[in-house]
Amino acid sequence: MATAIHTASSAPLHTIETKPMPERYARGWHCLGRASEFRDGKPHGVSAFGTRLVVFAGDDGELRALNAWCPHMGADLSIGRIEGDTVVCRFHGWGYAGDGACTHIPYSKTIPPKARVRSWPTREVNRLLFVWNDPEQEPPPPEADIPQLPQVGAADWSDWAMSRWVIDNNCRELVDNLADLGHFGPVHGSSDVKYFANIFEGGKATQVMVGINERLGGTRNHLTTVATYFGPAVLICGMRGEAEGLPVESILLVTHVPIDQQHFELDFGVMVRRQPALSEEQNRALAERYVELTIQAFTEDVAVWHNKIRVDNPLLCAGDGPLLQLREWYEQFYTDRRQVPARLAQRRTVEIDLGLADPPPALQHVFGL
Ligand code: FES
Ligand SMILES: [Fe+2]
Repeated sequence: MATAIHTASSAPLHTIETKPMPERYARGWHCLGRASEFRDGKPHGVSAFGTRLVVFAGDDGELRALNAWCPHMGADLSIGRIEGDTVVCRFHGWGYAGDGACTHIPYSKTIPPKARVRSWPTREVNRLLFVWNDPEQEPPPPEADIPQLPQVGAADWSDWAMSRWVIDNNCRELVDNLADLGHFGPVHGSSDVKYFANIFEGGKATQVMVGINERLGGTRNHLTTVATYFGPAVLICGMRGEAEGLPVESILLVTHVPIDQQHFELDFGVMVRRQPALSEEQNRALAERYVELTIQAFTEDVAVWHNKIRVDNPLLCAGDGPLLQLREWYEQFYTDRRQVPARLAQRRTVEIDLGLADPPPALQHVFGL
C-alpha cells in the first residue's frame, strides 16, 4: 500500500472571496405554497424579499399579495381581517383593495392620496400560488411563465406532498446545486453518477442526471432525473427511479422565497404516479414512502447549507460541474433586463459522461418544456 507523504508546500493558498450580498432580490416568479392554504378566509403574512407581504383571497376568490406594513402607522395587515375584496387593518380599520389602494377609512371622509401599498402580481399554476418579484417593477413577461403540468390533477398522479424549511443562508447556495456534480457521492452517499449534463437557455437552466442510487433508484435500475429551473426560484424535476422493486415515476418541486439575504424559505413538493397494479391503499403507502425517501436525501443537502459560507471564487477542479456557468446564468435575475447579456438567450450545454452503458436521455428541459 502506498503511503502519501505530506510536506509543507510553498504554493500560495486560495483566498476565499465574498462580495457584499446583493442589494436586490431576483426577478422572477416565486412560489408561496399551495394556493388552497390561502383560501381559509384569513389574511396570511409572508416574510419575503426583505419585507412583509399580506396574501388574501377576497370574495371573488382571487388571491392577492400586498405589502403588509400599513402606511398609516405601521401595523401588519396580515393580522387584520378580510372584508369583501379588501384587507382591513386591525389597528384603525383602513381597508386596502387588491391593487393596494386604500378604499376605506372608518372615521374619515377623505382618503390621503398616498394611502396605497405596493401590490405584487400573483398567479396560480399547478395548484400553487406564485408571486412576481421585479426590482424594476415591470409586469411579468410571458417567457417567464411557469408551465402548467398536465400531471397535476390527473387521475393517475397523486397530489403534491409538501414540506417546508427555513434555511439560514443566501438562496444562491440552493441554486448552485443544479451544477454541483461533485456533491452527489459525499453528501448523498449511495449515489453513483453515470451521466451529468446541464443546459442553460434564457431563463431556464436544466440538469440531466443518470446514476445509481440505492435509496431512490434501486441498485439495478438507473435513477434518471431531469430538473429545470424556470426562472431563479422554481425547479421542476421529473424523476424515474425505483422503490421496493417497483419502478416509480415522480415529479419533484423545489421552490424558494428569499426572506432576506441570509435566510430563505424552501418548499419541497413530491407527486408520484399511481401504479395501476396496486390498490389505492398500496399506492398511497408507496407515495408516502417515496416522499419520505426524497425528503431524507434532501435534508442531507440542507445540513450543508446551514454550515457553509458564501464563496464567489470557488476553487474548482476537474470533475466539478459547470458551476461558474450556472452562476453566470443566475446573475441575470439580479441584473436590469436591458443589461442582461444577449448571449444568455442562446442555448449552451455541458455534458459529462462518467461511464453510462445505455444511450443518454434526450438533452432537453424537463418534459420537453
Ligand atoms: S396602522 Fe393600519 S390603520 Fe392605522
Ligand atoms: Fe443534493
